[in-house]
Amino acid sequence: MKFLKLLIILVAFQVNAQQGGMWIPSMLQGMNESEMKSLGMKMTAQDIYDANNSSVKDAIVHFDGGCTSEIISPKGLLLTNHHCGYSAIQSHSTVEHDYLQDGFWAKDLASELTNPGMDATFIVSIHDVTNTVLEGVAQLASELEKQKKIQENISRIQTTFPKESWQENKIKTFYEGNQFILFVTETFKDIRLVGTPPSSIGKFGSDTDNWVWPRHTGDFSIFRIYANKDNKPAEYSKDNVPYTPKHFLPISLDGISEEDFTLVFGFPGRTQEYLPSNAVAQIVNTLNPAKIEIRDAALKVQDGFMRKDQAIKIQYASKFASVANYWKKWIGESKGLKKSNAITLKQNFEKEFATRIEAKGKQSEYGNLLAGFDKNYAAINDYALARDYFIEVVLRNAELLSQGFKLYQLEKVFETKGEQAFNDRKTNTLKAAEDFYKNYSVVVDEKVFEKLIVLYGEKSPLAPESLKTADFTKLTKEVYGKSKLTSYASLNELLKGDAKTVLKNLNKDSGYKLVKILADNFYKNIAPKYDAINLEISALQRNYMKAQLELFPDARYFPDANSTLRVTYGKVKGYSPTDAVYYQPVTYLDGIIEKYVPGDYEFDVPSKLIELYNNKDYGQYAENGKVPVCFIGTNHTTGGNSGSPAIDANGNLIGLNFDRVWEGTMSDIHYDPEICRNIMVDVRYVLFIVDKYAGAKHLINEMKLVHPKNKK
Ligand code: ARG
Ligand code: GLU
Repeated sequence: MKFLKLLIILVAFQVNAQQGGMWIPSMLQGMNESEMKSLGMKMTAQDIYDANNSSVKDAIVHFDGGCTSEIISPKGLLLTNHHCGYSAIQSHSTVEHDYLQDGFWAKDLASELTNPGMDATFIVSIHDVTNTVLEGVAQLASELEKQKKIQENISRIQTTFPKESWQENKIKTFYEGNQFILFVTETFKDIRLVGTPPSSIGKFGSDTDNWVWPRHTGDFSIFRIYANKDNKPAEYSKDNVPYTPKHFLPISLDGISEEDFTLVFGFPGRTQEYLPSNAVAQIVNTLNPAKIEIRDAALKVQDGFMRKDQAIKIQYASKFASVANYWKKWIGESKGLKKSNAITLKQNFEKEFATRIEAKGKQSEYGNLLAGFDKNYAAINDYALARDYFIEVVLRNAELLSQGFKLYQLEKVFETKGEQAFNDRKTNTLKAAEDFYKNYSVVVDEKVFEKLIVLYGEKSPLAPESLKTADFTKLTKEVYGKSKLTSYASLNELLKGDAKTVLKNLNKDSGYKLVKILADNFYKNIAPKYDAINLEISALQRNYMKAQLELFPDARYFPDANSTLRVTYGKVKGYSPTDAVYYQPVTYLDGIIEKYVPGDYEFDVPSKLIELYNNKDYGQYAENGKVPVCFIGTNHTTGGNSGSPAIDANGNLIGLNFDRVWEGTMSDIHYDPEICRNIMVDVRYVLFIVDKYAGAKHLINEMKLVHPKNKK
């Protein structure tokens, strides 16, 4: 009996111990510290976040708004993913110096490459400002007024909260609008490229291996932050010097074993963990299938051309990768949500929720929530679907339409702001168009359009009447045969003259005319209704969150990701994707050689790497004669966590987060500790490539390599 009790406690604890969650670094002490320690952490919460002294958080950097990076030397050396540095690396590449293909290693500070427009942001301190943000809100009657008041309070606090002149205040909302937190930030603007492996290492496996375990990608690149002479942020200058950080991560050479504690520290973008069951059903049954079908059609067409034509392959490589990334993620997400019975689990939770409302006599406060969700998710269905068709077809995948939409916005600028604003906007539009058309093939786009416009006309619930009954073949000929949006030269011609002339000509263009019909329809018949219902849903969601926190006081709820700094933690752990199959948590260089397909654009391996493998020339980076490449863990991560450091029990760097496993991509909506795993590059593989492959010893010398387990 006693044993049984103990077992129950143990089991309950175990389940709880791997629940996932993305936690606010300044609030670990009460929420997480003891659990983290029980998982093996040797640090204190204060070692991770300390408002007054340097702590691990001072080494964590938001990289160019989208990814995460970390400081790994006292001279501002910054580690992030290869796919995060990709466009910067691409921008420095020419036919003579193709750094994407060959890699790049600056031999000294003077050879590091500047990246105009790139930035890197530190979090200086974190403050809960909920009470001040909500001042004077409760007494307001309508949701619209409440939101307006909240926005006013936010702008006021952001301007008045004490900070240094070079810093910024940013307030973000947590728990669906139940909590507001202010971040004091510091943004550096002079970020230089230091080194990157070739794509055959940094992007090894490409789209075939994307979102997949076992993985063998060396997904890293190295930058450096430069500051002015006072070590403060500054625009690029040749007089800037390497930044001296408050903290940098020591790097462990002792590696990881299954069950080791891991902590991932970064800027996860967006999760939707507290959606009601009907919202999840809508994603699985309606929205994901539509988006997947559209991208599937576009990708098939592009792939067909890319395989036949080298020039098109180069033009479309980056666009294809980014469209394919979420296409593949949504397929995995839908599968995972079904397999883990997410909808049924949510329905069961909602039954329990309703029971507790009754039991606690909270009907007047919370009794309307579930019925409200039912009503509003039913009401928003067609608008949400129509909106996704518009976004995926017009804004994203039919390129002539996307280009046309920029001109639609240009026309709106004229209508709302007049001639001067129009001319400024026109200059910018043309500049962007010049870049766009470099990677545009009208032959490819016409075929994509032909497929997608049929889907739009036949399947979008709120397509314009004229499109529903259109002859799609004729329409395609009409648009692509006559429109001037098919090349930069003809677009440039079309935009000649003053605003009046331009708009007159534009409105005669067959491509533009179609864009206008679609966009007008969207702004008149779809967006306003969608926004109105969505406002209702947000209000319900906020109250639902509040109710859960109140009615389930023992559960620990983390706030959904919102691109703010978070800590997630777990263990190195394999998983079982299907019956009878178990995946080990670590991959090795041997696996790269197994996957090697000479000359293949996804699985080629550089000869230097093969040579190192054949000679077993691994230096200090091998374990039991093998070089580890990637590993997985139970850390709860999402997009934006790319480039996040994986940190050991003592605060040393052990890896670099870059992906999740296919079976667990539904973790943005429903985290299942059984199969949700994040994928990290083992930092010893990073060091091995920098040292043995690239010969960039001077970079290794800058770092602090440690042996926390005393393994040598
Ligand atoms: N799946 C990872 C992420 O979401 C890596 C993406 C890199 N791109 C690619 N198409 N392989 O960003
Ligand atoms: N690759 C993703 C990123 O760029 C991280 C992987 C994920 O979504 O978990 O942020």
